[in-house]
Amino acid sequence: MKVDVIAGLQWGDEGKGKVVDVFAARYDVIARFQGGPNAGHTLEFEGKKHVLHTIPSGIFHRDKINLIGNGVIIDPRILVAELRKLDPHGVDYHNNLFIARRAHLILPTHRLLDACYEQQKGDAKIGSTLKGIGPAYTDKTARNGLRVGDLESRSFMQRYENLREYHLLLIEAMGSDPKEFTIEGLTMEAYEMQWLQSAEELKGLNLVDGEFFINDLIRKGKRVLAEGAQGTMLDVDFGSYPFVTSSNTITAGVCTGLGIAPQLIGEVYGVFKAYCTRVGSGPFPTELHDETGELLRKNGNEYGSTTGRPRRCGWIDLPALKYACMLNGVTQLVMTKADVMNDFPVIRLCHTYELDGEPINRWGFFCDYGKPEPRYREVDGWLLNLGNITSSDNIPPTLSRYTGIITRETGVPVTFVSTGPDRSQIIAL
Ligand code: GDP
Ligand code: IMO
Ligand code: MG
Repeated sequence: MKVDVIAGLQWGDEGKGKVVDVFAARYDVIARFQGGPNAGHTLEFEGKKHVLHTIPSGIFHRDKINLIGNGVIIDPRILVAELRKLDPHGVDYHNNLFIARRAHLILPTHRLLDACYEQQKGDAKIGSTLKGIGPAYTDKTARNGLRVGDLESRSFMQRYENLREYHLLLIEAMGSDPKEFTIEGLTMEAYEMQWLQSAEELKGLNLVDGEFFINDLIRKGKRVLAEGAQGTMLDVDFGSYPFVTSSNTITAGVCTGLGIAPQLIGEVYGVFKAYCTRVGSGPFPTELHDETGELLRKNGNEYGSTTGRPRRCGWIDLPALKYACMLNGVTQLVMTKADVMNDFPVIRLCHTYELDGEPINRWGFFCDYGKPEPRYREVDGWLLNLGNITSSDNIPPTLSRYTGIITRETGVPVTFVSTGPDRSQIIAL
């Protein structure tokens, strides 16, 4: 069996968690392949809202296997806090959650470093979620990192202390005092105590050699859905660098983040909002600083699932979407949050940028530097409450026209439209 992929095509928060939860019914295994607790994936069903950070979004489906792959980075304290939240819902994570031993750990001092780097950057800060993502992936590639499987080794505490000392020295070398930073309102020492307790608990979960675990399941004919975090425009190689996260968020990351071969990739579902949002700093050509932007934020409840920060909002950006389809090999598009524009009489789509008087119809390196001016076309809105539509037969022609433009521009069919946060609010086209 092939591995299907859910990839975010914009700057994250496209609604990947909801889509994974809906699609999970058709799969046996849901696997996260990159990112860490910077992610916030929201699921809504039976009148309740759940936000997952490290745990795959298939966890509420009783009979599914959930795997946290080697490409993910894990803060044990955050993971254990997530598990506690699952307890009242009877989730059997002792039997349906598996964690790759090769996944790296985010240490408390990675979070101090994250805060320190951001402080040093001043106005040029990334707008990191301050979960320690950049420093933990840095240690991974610098070959200093500690992995989940290392928790089982007798030398773990010694290695932990060495790495912590090194991090504290780095902070001092930058002219800062480690004591000036807190982690979620706690001193480093207080956080560390909880972190170490949580690490003990993590050790007692199902730790596996993820690459063998998943390939064995694939060989047995199990259907796997790989769940991306963040989005293409935050990819460390192809995003709006340096305002990106520190992992490969695109489909290629599935291979390295789970240990599967490229020819095993099947369908790639690209998830995008009917408009655009971004949280944190960096280029965003179609950003709106007016009342329309405010309305998108209000209607779409555009506040970060992880940090609560207001998200920047703007019109859909087709050159960026085309770029994302190319990089991910998207085979089907899933458009979310169409309902947010229910009462918009006119909707705009950016089809081209203009830079120094020249039209450019694709995202490029220049977007990391220049300020491309978006050029728009306008279409009529649907002026209808989409939340009540369940069948593609009742889709308004104005909405079909909107998805038709997107399909023509990207060359990829829009096969699903999500019309509300609930699991039930999705239309297959
Ligand atoms: P993710 O990080 O890609 O999983 O997305 P987030 O969960 O961070 O943000 C998406 C937000 O939009 C969440 O609050 C979802 O509950 C909500 N959402 C998802 N799909 C829809 C939709 O079609 N319509 C509306 N109104 N909200 C949606
Ligand atoms: P999900 O999976 C939206 C953004 C941060 C910041 C930049 C770097 O929920 O879509 P980091 O903490 O990784 O060092 O932050 O990336 N960012 C996200 N934005 N959704 C996310 O995840 C994000 N994860 C990181 O706001 O601009
Ligand atoms: Mg999110």
